[in-house]
Amino acid sequence: MICATTSQQGECCLPTSGNVPAMAIFPIRTFPDPVLSMASSPVADFDSDLRRLVDDMLETMYAAPGVGLAAPQIGIPKRVFVADIGEGPFVMVNPEIVETSGSWKYEEGCLSVPGRYWSIKRRDHVTAVGRDIDGETVVHEGDELMGRVLQHEIDHLDGILLLERLSNRARKAALADLRDDPLGQPRRM
Ligand code: NI
Repeated sequence: MICATTSQQGECCLPTSGNVPAMAIFPIRTFPDPVLSMASSPVADFDSDLRRLVDDMLETMYAAPGVGLAAPQIGIPKRVFVADIGEGPFVMVNPEIVETSGSWKYEEGCLSVPGRYWSIKRRDHVTAVGRDIDGETVVHEGDELMGRVLQHEIDHLDGILLLERLSNRARKAALADLRDDPLGQPRRM
């Protein structure tokens, strides 16, 4: 997930009204949870389970708050992500990047590595093809934040965290920093 602000983690279940299943906010898995390093499996069934997963992911993403969330970040290694860069929510199932151009440096964060940001250079303009929730082919493309979200979320589906997009030197420093100050622990003075 690319996050706009520091995450708040926690689990909460919304009350059920009638026989409509409640959406749920899931705890977001953080580095070094092994599910974040797994390659996720393609989705085969475009059914009510997928719809439920996407609803829960959107709820979790907006609560974080974030602009994107990939299924492995809630512990489900399936090739699904949701995103909203301020133009409304969208979902991509089994997405692939088919075209890129240019490059763009951006101060990037991830809710799975909360509270940390690094300047990362990635491709600027990206075109991705995948399926929507009904299994229909969809294309999403854009530059700057849109291109960034597509690359970041599809990386999650391949088990790649933003730490792996740092230079060797920056990654070593980041890993040492995370070792000294593990996530979820109060900062030492
Ligand atoms: Ni992320």
